[in-house]
Amino acid sequence: GDDRVKISVIGCGYLGAVHAASMAELGHDVIGFDVDEAKIRSLSAGEAPFFEPGLPEILKSATASGRLRFTSDVTELKGAKVHFLAVGTPQKAGEYAADLTYVDLAVESLIPQLSEGDLLVGKSTVPVGTAARLAARIDASGSGALLAWNPEFLREGFAVKDTISPDRLVYGIPEGERGLVAKALLDEIYATALSNDTPLVVTDYATAELVKVSANAFLATKISFINAMAEIAEVTGADVTQLADAIGFDARIGRRFLNAGVGFGGGCLPKDIRAFSARAEELGRGESVAFLKEVDAINLRRRQRAVDLVVESLGGQVYQKKIAVLGLAFKPDSDDIRDSPALDVAVQLHGLGAEVVATDPEAIANSARKHPQLSFTETVEDALHGAEAVVVVTEWKEFRELDPVAAKALVANAIVIDGRNCLDAEAWRAAGWTYRGMGRP
Ligand code: UDX
Repeated sequence: GDDRVKISVIGCGYLGAVHAASMAELGHDVIGFDVDEAKIRSLSAGEAPFFEPGLPEILKSATASGRLRFTSDVTELKGAKVHFLAVGTPQKAGEYAADLTYVDLAVESLIPQLSEGDLLVGKSTVPVGTAARLAARIDASGSGALLAWNPEFLREGFAVKDTISPDRLVYGIPEGERGLVAKALLDEIYATALSNDTPLVVTDYATAELVKVSANAFLATKISFINAMAEIAEVTGADVTQLADAIGFDARIGRRFLNAGVGFGGGCLPKDIRAFSARAEELGRGESVAFLKEVDAINLRRRQRAVDLVVESLGGQVYQKKIAVLGLAFKPDSDDIRDSPALDVAVQLHGLGAEVVATDPEAIANSARKHPQLSFTETVEDALHGAEAVVVVTEWKEFRELDPVAAKALVANAIVIDGRNCLDAEAWRAAGWTYRGMGRP
């Protein structure tokens, strides 16, 4: 009915497009805004501008029902009661810090559209202190609008599910009466999740901002921890996958996010730990998160290790040798190549003069745009054909399920480097392959 809260979402990139469609799927009335007109045209036609399982379906149904529209005209945001800020905060060129240009531009263009009692809800990942600064700016504008900070924890590949049924909700709200008004509006928007007993943490702005960056810092640290153990395993003959299983049985540690390999990439973990380091230094607490520099360094070393294993397996020389690179996306079920270890391995091998032929179920188009010097092929068979070594760098199901016997018939040399420890080493060795994993004998 007409009493439903009207929602706007500013920024229709990965986070914003998924958030807008998911809010509409929950029955809200949503308008998505982006300055990129091509993106708006595609979204208005019900088409997702990137690969994300489940998103095309809800985009189509919500745009068709009229619950969801998109615009590149900021004045159309007037009249919405709750405005979600979902613009990007990329790493600044040549620096560790986050670039807040898009956040500031979005807030400035939104301010003239705000009415008394409207709620602006920050979702973007920002350096701690940003929300307080924006709240002061909104107060100074005299619009009478409120600000809340409500970080987003969605994982690519599970983005719709994570948005509709999140693990937890975090509201960073102002003190006193204004905070209660903000909380009541957020409760109304997240009524479905709250009725399913989703844990809710209500806090101040700084804590809400820090929850997001510390969660990502912890996850990155967990991955680099197991990759550090892989480095030790490599000089001792130990097997890091068994080690991970064994320590993972301790519920305090847990087995998830303990997969050693070529490390983490994507649009969040790498840039978030760097921005956190930069912000901590500004706050005079650089030493508190100095370990994140090590986390980053370990992570980057593991890509190099995969490249070194390929070179070593081919007797120290890859020049003009055909190498099949299986995987380009930073993780499976994604076409995202931002900071992708897989793509980096392909680029490095190409740089050493190898004839790299790379394949990926979803990420070829994005990779080819960024690295046209590489050769790509749609099928695993073409990639394997005549290859002198095979390197698996994204653990897509179709790679994990490759038949080592059939694969062996295609290649010139049966050498496989398992950069994600995702293949059955026994089965590949039994089929006559030289198998090298990460942190495994
Ligand atoms: C991450 C966080 O998980 C999410 O909560 C946050 O909102 C955004 O950042 P995402 O970037 O989608 O999500 O990917 P995630 O599934 O966390 O994986 C990140 C990277 O770590 C991938 O490159 C993945 O391959 C790698 N990874 C993950 C490992 O190398 N080992 C593991 O055990 C787990």
